[in-house]
Amino acid sequence: MTRAFQETALAADIAAGLARVGTLFDSQLSSVFPAVNELCRYVERYRGKMLRPTLVLVSGLAFTDDGEPLRAEHDIVAATVEMIHMATLVHDDVLDEAAVRRRGETVNFLRGNETAVMLGDYLISNAFHLCSRAGNPALNLRLGEVTNTLCEGELVQLSRRHDLTLDEHTYFEILRRKTAVLVGASCELGTMLANGSAAEVAAMRAFGEHLGIAFQIQDDLLDLLGDEATVGKSIGRDLEKGKLTLPMILHIAGSSGSLRVAAMDAIEAKDGASLRRVLARSGSIDAAREKAISIVEEAKALLPATKRAHSRELLLELADRVVARNH
Ligand code: FPP
Ligand code: MG
Repeated sequence: MTRAFQETALAADIAAGLARVGTLFDSQLSSVFPAVNELCRYVERYRGKMLRPTLVLVSGLAFTDDGEPLRAEHDIVAATVEMIHMATLVHDDVLDEAAVRRRGETVNFLRGNETAVMLGDYLISNAFHLCSRAGNPALNLRLGEVTNTLCEGELVQLSRRHDLTLDEHTYFEILRRKTAVLVGASCELGTMLANGSAAEVAAMRAFGEHLGIAFQIQDDLLDLLGDEATVGKSIGRDLEKGKLTLPMILHIAGSSGSLRVAAMDAIEAKDGASLRRVLARSGSIDAAREKAISIVEEAKALLPATKRAHSRELLLELADRVVARNH
């Protein structure tokens, strides 16, 4: 089999898988009430890169023999992780008072916080209902752990808002919880359902968690440096909401005198332009970017050998894309 054909076959497998996941997702959310369906159709617009379901499917294929199909549970888990992710985004936009996501208005902006909170609840409830349909309690147990951890991450973040003493260790703990555990579980469960060994499952989970952390550092950089038209969502929310991110933390820890005070003043005044200037001068923005890149390199080094070489190549490519993105 030629390399080009294998690549095409793998891409086709994943595209077909994502199409099945989309159908499952839509049918799970279907309600007898048009008002509910209208909201769900609207929020499906939030589906973008489909990173998490893609990771479930590619991790599954990576540990499945050539020519063997994925299991039905792979599709269920892939749709479930995307639904969990979407629920968190709907709630996150309420917390961040964000008006724009995926180049369109957020649910909270269009319909208010009450509707957005209830829609997020509807999505999270449906995610666990859908997962239960797999009839495998281990999946519900693991994803329940993940959503508990995710909420803990958000709660710790809320408790440390406007706190200029937030250190790097705590920042990474927040990132691991609010973002990385779901990405890690996507790789872990995809591998587990393909009967990967305990060592392979653990390695894939670590790979995904590293990816998730790097993804969130890049997300935080885009929030600080990007413009709304390119990023496609409300930016500057971290500064507005008093969330310290890696360049700010590195700067406060690594500088002294007027440079340090200037950054702290800009954070307190929510002055993005001054903050960007001072962080660039100290090299903290570059340092945060380099940290994200080095975490992606660590992720790639963690990737175990797979049954299909091209799934591994795709996972390596997905890893690089996490930091090489401007939206
Ligand atoms: C994105 O942060 C936010 C998350 C990754 C997690 C949000 C989680 C919650 C709000 C808890 C809700 C939990 C459940 C189970 C429904 P961000 O604001 O940095 O990202 P953004 O730039 O995409 O807005
Ligand atoms: Mg947000």
